Amino acid sequence: MNNVTEIKSSNRIIKCYDVPAENIDPKTVSSFGEEWKAFHGFKEKDLKRIGDMYFDIVTTDMLHEQSSVIDIGCGSGRFIKYLGNRFKNMVGLDPSKAIYAADELIGKNEKVELVMASTDNIPFPDGHFDFGYSLGVLHHIPDTQKALIDCVRKLRSGGYFLLYLYYSLDNRPFYFKIFYWISNLIRLLVCRLPTGLKKGVCAFLAVILYMPFILVCRFLRWIGVPERIRRYIPLQVYERQSFYVIRNDSLDRFGTPLEQRFSRKQIKDMMEKAGLTEIVFSEKLPYWHAVGKKI
Ligand SMILES: C[S@@+](CC[C@H](N)C(=O)[O-])C[C@H]1O[C@@H](n2cnc3c(N)ncnc32)[C@H](O)[C@@H]1O
Repeated sequence: MNNVTEIKSSNRIIKCYDVPAENIDPKTVSSFGEEWKAFHGFKEKDLKRIGDMYFDIVTTDMLHEQSSVIDIGCGSGRFIKYLGNRFKNMVGLDPSKAIYAADELIGKNEKVELVMASTDNIPFPDGHFDFGYSLGVLHHIPDTQKALIDCVRKLRSGGYFLLYLYYSLDNRPFYFKIFYWISNLIRLLVCRLPTGLKKGVCAFLAVILYMPFILVCRFLRWIGVPERIRRYIPLQVYERQSFYVIRNDSLDRFGTPLEQRFSRKQIKDMMEKAGLTEIVFSEKLPYWHAVGKKI
């Protein structure tokens, strides 16, 4: 772990670990580096809304002011910004150039350290952290199970890990799977485009694919149709999100070369295999996110 370069960014020194990583898809990482350069200007309102959705199952027993925290695959740093400086210290780890966008978004915060590294070379001793999370990351890594084991190893016994992985639509009606199948074909084409064109195409897809569903959901919400019914409409999760977040997610969804999907059962099995117990799944969108305690 000695190939480290210290790069002075706007708000802090970022340690970049040039250690060979195997469990990584370089094209996906490079694509995220470009993505977060374009999307790191989240508004407080957006950050709160998104953060509340993922941290709904995290209690103050799991995460509190004495916690030492790591965000694995922090991207633009939006969840670190959401959590603020309520904790003892926080590390944001990402192998892509997104880490510079994270520095900008987080701004001055002495409790936050940023490192450029991958899950297979997290530059901290095993058992170092009290709380770790990885949201929307490990499904973009070739061996998700191994990545999860590598992350959980960095937690102390009794610490907690919050995980979000793309779901395999296992709790959805068949037509969701048809939409997914079509969108996946589009992704396989779009992710090969050069960066500038990819951004433009994804913004266009946000308008023509996302917005029709989202506008229907917004209208139904406005006339009082309950959430338990609106939930049957694809992309309902975005009905309260800003167009900025929707455009960002479109680029995330269609611009990424490697993505994998898992059922709730597969995720539970992987978490257990990584040494987590007392696993709690959120019953709310986005699916699936779950928290577990390190044995
Ligand atoms: C969809 S983004 C999610 C970013 C952030 N968690 C969020 O939701 O805002 C996925 C992130 O995973 C990172 N990533 C990809 N491969 C990784 C690896 N092997 N180790 C750690 N992070 C990785 C990417 O660079 C990217 O920033």
